Amino acid sequence: MAGSIYILNGPNLNLLGQRQPEIYGYETLADVEQSCRDMLTGHDMALRFLQSNAEHQIIDWIHEARTQADAIIINPAAFTHTSVAILDALNAFEGLVVEVHISNVHKREPFRHHSYVSGRADAVMAGFGVEGYSLALRHVVGKIARKMAAPASA
Ligand code: DQA
Repeated sequence: MAGSIYILNGPNLNLLGQRQPEIYGYETLADVEQSCRDMLTGHDMALRFLQSNAEHQIIDWIHEARTQADAIIINPAAFTHTSVAILDALNAFEGLVVEVHISNVHKREPFRHHSYVSGRADAVMAGFGVEGYSLALRHVVGKIARKMAAPASA
């Protein structure tokens, strides 16, 4: 049985590589998606890699993931700091949730220090640059593989 992972990206991440490269680097979101897909080669894992600038779209993808995914890796971008609605949607998802931030939000402006999503996340990555996505993905793949290998409980 294959595993399934959603990687969701919030507003302005479509501009990755062009937007404030001194903070977010020069790699594009397409580069990040490619390295995630490369990492999954040889693993029986489906990947949906998505980006939207619209809060409702991210919420709809989280709802879809409720029946389609074992894990969500999410960089909610600015919605991290504002969105109770994304937190509520994630609370309705039963799988693994990993929150990723390219920058170390705790080293930045005080308004970035609070995350609504962290209250639901099983793990949080911040400040690893875009490598945070592959580190999160490696963690999630290991967790799903172990879960699938575990004998079903009686
Ligand atoms: C971000 C950090 C957020 O504070 C910011 O609004 C973003 C990107 C990051 O990946 O470092 O858009 O989530």
